[in-house]
Amino acid sequence: MSPSQGQFEQLILPIGTTLDRFINTQQNNFPFARGEFSQLLRDIAIASKIVNREINRAGLANISGSYGAQNNHGEDQQKLDMVANVRFIRALKNGGEVCAIASEEDEELIDTGNYNAKYVVAIDPLDGSSNIDVNVAVGTIFSIYRRVSPAGSPPGPEDILQKGTQQVAAGYILYGSSTMMVLTSGAGVDGFTYEPSLGEYYLSHPNMRMPKTGKIYSINESSYSTFPKPIKDYIQYCHDENYSARYIGSFVADFHRNLLKGGIFMYPQSTKSPQGKLRLLYECFPLAFLVEQAGGMAIDGDKRILDYEPERLHQRAPLIIGSSEMVKTARKYFLLDHVRV
Ligand code: AHG
Ligand code: MN
Ligand code: MN
Repeated sequence: MSPSQGQFEQLILPIGTTLDRFINTQQNNFPFARGEFSQLLRDIAIASKIVNREINRAGLANISGSYGAQNNHGEDQQKLDMVANVRFIRALKNGGEVCAIASEEDEELIDTGNYNAKYVVAIDPLDGSSNIDVNVAVGTIFSIYRRVSPAGSPPGPEDILQKGTQQVAAGYILYGSSTMMVLTSGAGVDGFTYEPSLGEYYLSHPNMRMPKTGKIYSINESSYSTFPKPIKDYIQYCHDENYSARYIGSFVADFHRNLLKGGIFMYPQSTKSPQGKLRLLYECFPLAFLVEQAGGMAIDGDKRILDYEPERLHQRAPLIIGSSEMVKTARKYFLLDHVRV
């Protein structure tokens, strides 16, 4: 039986714009986005496809579980943390567009030897790694800056210790029930879904906007007794408003859900960790840039995250990030208490 016209049209629906094509279009729209920048985004995309493959076969290839060492934060390194780190760093080094890389898994700034390259990258190669062994979504977070030291010279700390507002681009890859890349280069946020059989990311979520408000709050509430009063008060407000508590423990996955549905994610300071847990350069900054580009907000309590001037590679910052109205309400509790962070 031959297909009806309607069925036929379903069969030949266009798949859409590839990430590559999209990057080329952006390059035409933005004067700064020359070929080097496009190539850098492609290098990140290629590494993410490899990491996606490793994650998908983690259980089979004996690469789940602990590596038996700790990173510079005293956290257990998982084998996949290391695999993802190697994959991204190699792709960025060999791609040639990056002169320095700050990675969660490396104590020092990595000098790639590409002294003529114009860009620097900060990266959390695998975020949410405690979730690898239990088949729960993990991610990669990255941030891109233009170097400030002169091209042709070795990179220095000043190239990466730039204010969040100086980011040229930022994004994340979510290795979830489907794999997605969500990206901003300062003109809105776009989401791409990976099509494994074609090996390409396709534009699936153009011009993503975060709902102004929502009903989801995400925080590790088990640390309640260690939180400052404004956070305790805001949590009480969330209870009073009958919000839903949703906390995966993978920042990228929690953020992505809240970006789509509306919500607020908090990793505040506590008596245990006075600066919170999340790292400014490769966790807070990139998602703060992205959330603002989607219409949301990111603060540390009262100060805008993007206005931080980092002093150290692995510096931490308290983070309240999400739908603008929800973040504003949370900030009111900080202003009321005059708590400085
Ligand atoms: P990473 O796996 O890169 O070290 O990051 C883990 C982070 C983040 O993904 C998550 O939101 C947070 O740790 C969870 O921490 P708690 O277990 O303290 O809630
Ligand atoms: Mn992380
Ligand atoms: Mn990590």
